[in-house]
Amino acid sequence: MAHAYNIEVELTKNSNLEKVDFNNLKFGQILSDHMLVADYDDGEWKSVKIVPYTNLSLSPATSALHYGQAIFEGIKAYKFADGRVSIFRPDKNFERFNKSAVRLEMPELPEEIFMGGLKKLIATDSAFVPPVDGASLYIRPFMFGTEPALGVHPSKSYKFIIITGPVGAYYNKPLRVKVETFYTRAAAGGVGFSKNAGNYALSLYPTRLAQDEGFDQLIWTDAKEHRYIEEAGTANLVFMLGDTLVTPGSETVLQGVTRHSIMDIAKSWGIKTETRDVSVQELLEGIEQGNVTEAFAAGTAATLTPISEIGYAGKLYKLPAPETREFSNKVLDYLNELRYGRIEDPFGWNFIV
Ligand code: COI
Repeated sequence: MAHAYNIEVELTKNSNLEKVDFNNLKFGQILSDHMLVADYDDGEWKSVKIVPYTNLSLSPATSALHYGQAIFEGIKAYKFADGRVSIFRPDKNFERFNKSAVRLEMPELPEEIFMGGLKKLIATDSAFVPPVDGASLYIRPFMFGTEPALGVHPSKSYKFIIITGPVGAYYNKPLRVKVETFYTRAAAGGVGFSKNAGNYALSLYPTRLAQDEGFDQLIWTDAKEHRYIEEAGTANLVFMLGDTLVTPGSETVLQGVTRHSIMDIAKSWGIKTETRDVSVQELLEGIEQGNVTEAFAAGTAATLTPISEIGYAGKLYKLPAPETREFSNKVLDYLNELRYGRIEDPFGWNFIV
């Protein structure tokens, strides 16, 4: 029989709510009043509770700090005009979280803790979900190995935590991206598909080098030949090539919920979609021939951010002006209408708290 977890709630005595300016939100700078904390030990998930947001106390030998057993997710919740709160497709993040856990030899989360805990936490802090268009509550579930031990082995104990905070746009302008042809994000057989902390740590140095050249982000390419496009590291990539919406299909790429949703919406509108390898050559020649009408980053944090320019081998490839892009603008409007509950939800993606 499944374990029944009784999630107790301890409410804060010092709310941060009055300090929040919902009309002037950046990304990831404000945190809500509460967090969910679950502890795994002796082969099972033990305590699960919602407590006031506070610092953790950890041994300096905490295994995740040394050997990197650390995974996370990004999810958003939206406020409807009638005050109801909806989380966008958390079931997909739950699925992906457990895939990441398996690959990093960490325990899987029971649905009751991930989904049930999420719902209860968001209900507790629903006042932090911005009642403002373009803003949302960003939800960050994460898990890491806590065993204080320096031998290289899977941690025997773990913490699963969910923190949240009201956010505005992650990117507030179209992106200039550079095709990376030396450094590698992920190789076949590696952990590229999983959302683990190391994938982000390794991106920082090459991204900073590109930023020194005036770019915002990288386009990662395959580890073997640097011939095929993968993802942007902070988001997936999607292109309109001729009449077809195409996204790179490699197993080394994070299986993004936003891009998946966009591809599904496009399909439902009768637009041809393909998830397949896209070579750098195909993309850049397509841009030169005027055959690439749209290019964007798609992710929970990034939502849909247009790409304005792509740098490759010292040359800049310019894409059509974002305001002229029919599909991107239409699908972003549609996604917003759906997530703020202003239209029917034909896909059943809104998870009402
Ligand atoms: C997300 O989109 O939720 C991510 O985790 C990516 C990160 C850049 C915030």
